[in-house]
Amino acid sequence: MKTADVRRDIPLLEEVIYLDAASTTPTPRPVVEAMCDYFYNYNANTGRGAYGIAIKATHELDQARDKIAKFMNSTPEEIIFTKNTTEAINTVAHGLEFQKGDNIVIPNIEHHSNLVPWLNLQKEGVELRVVKADENGVIDPGDVEKLVNEKTRLVSVTHISNSIGSVQPVHEIAKIAEDKGSFFLIDAAQSAGHMEVDTKNLRADFVVFPGHKGLLGPVGTGFLYCAIDSQEELKPLNLGGGTVENVTEDDFKLTEPPARFEGGTQNIAGFIGLGAAMDYLERISMDKIERHSKKLTRVMYQEIQDIEKARVYGSPENIYGIVSFNIDNINPHDMAKILDETKSICVRSGFHCAIPSIRHIGAYELGGTVRASIHYYNTREEIEILGETVREVSKFLV
Ligand code: ALA
Repeated sequence: MKTADVRRDIPLLEEVIYLDAASTTPTPRPVVEAMCDYFYNYNANTGRGAYGIAIKATHELDQARDKIAKFMNSTPEEIIFTKNTTEAINTVAHGLEFQKGDNIVIPNIEHHSNLVPWLNLQKEGVELRVVKADENGVIDPGDVEKLVNEKTRLVSVTHISNSIGSVQPVHEIAKIAEDKGSFFLIDAAQSAGHMEVDTKNLRADFVVFPGHKGLLGPVGTGFLYCAIDSQEELKPLNLGGGTVENVTEDDFKLTEPPARFEGGTQNIAGFIGLGAAMDYLERISMDKIERHSKKLTRVMYQEIQDIEKARVYGSPENIYGIVSFNIDNINPHDMAKILDETKSICVRSGFHCAIPSIRHIGAYELGGTVRASIHYYNTREEIEILGETVREVSKFLV
């Protein structure tokens, strides 16, 4: 499938220049149609009813989980459905047991969702050890190694920074965590669906995913990959219907994963849609997506970099899918508003739910950054329009 084919499946792209994939992506027609098919033809709960449409719904949801697992090179048992990446991280933060004196090693460029749940554990005497990124927002594995010791319970790192776009050396960090016997979590919110995310190759215990960003699924879907070996260490976040094998008046026995972690009725339509999104990505091919996005990221970086008084964050060799920038003396929200009002360009502006990261790159006092982020449906022409418009606005306002 070519970019033009994908654009035909996303009517919204005729109305706007959508450069906010890092927040969420527009949903292609086959994904919407898979959800409609559920709503129109077999809208029933899963894992419960013995009647025809309930069996069909259960089968379709199982199929979706199989597709997601295959896409991530994991087994279906290792895929735990959540409502978003944040819930997946909180499943680990609340589910792992931490002792007073344990520590967690974490970079200073994380999204709040991969920081606040760990900050919260300080109340229980867990120490947070923060690794400082370099000026381009990249973590040096040597700095991680200095902080990891026998008391490190978890190392938790983003794959790609949501505020800078910098790609992190997760393989090297995985090795450090493994050597020290610590758990390792990767936040794949900005990499999944944009590049190959092979859970086995990443050697992480936990990988957290959104369904609604790079993977082109619907909002309200996310999932946690939890390696089989680490599952017994994790307590479920939600107990209740679906999580137990047997219950008496005074006790219960948990069922097997992943069901033990998925209390209550799922976002059935959403995950069936996400399953269809896996087929869709396969039809495009991850190789093509990666080649396209690498090229467009470079073009976008250069377009902005060439503008007088522009400051682009991160290094062009290392960022992927995201370009975060400021133009001297223009507030990022003003720029975003003008881009929308003049050329219907959708970008995110501000702190991107990553205040420490924004402080780290020196953009806090500036009100954050303007962030443009892409997927396979974006074209070079759209990026050039972004460049021209930012250039025009900067001439006019500065
Ligand atoms: N985490 C999303 C972002 O970075 C919402 O915009």
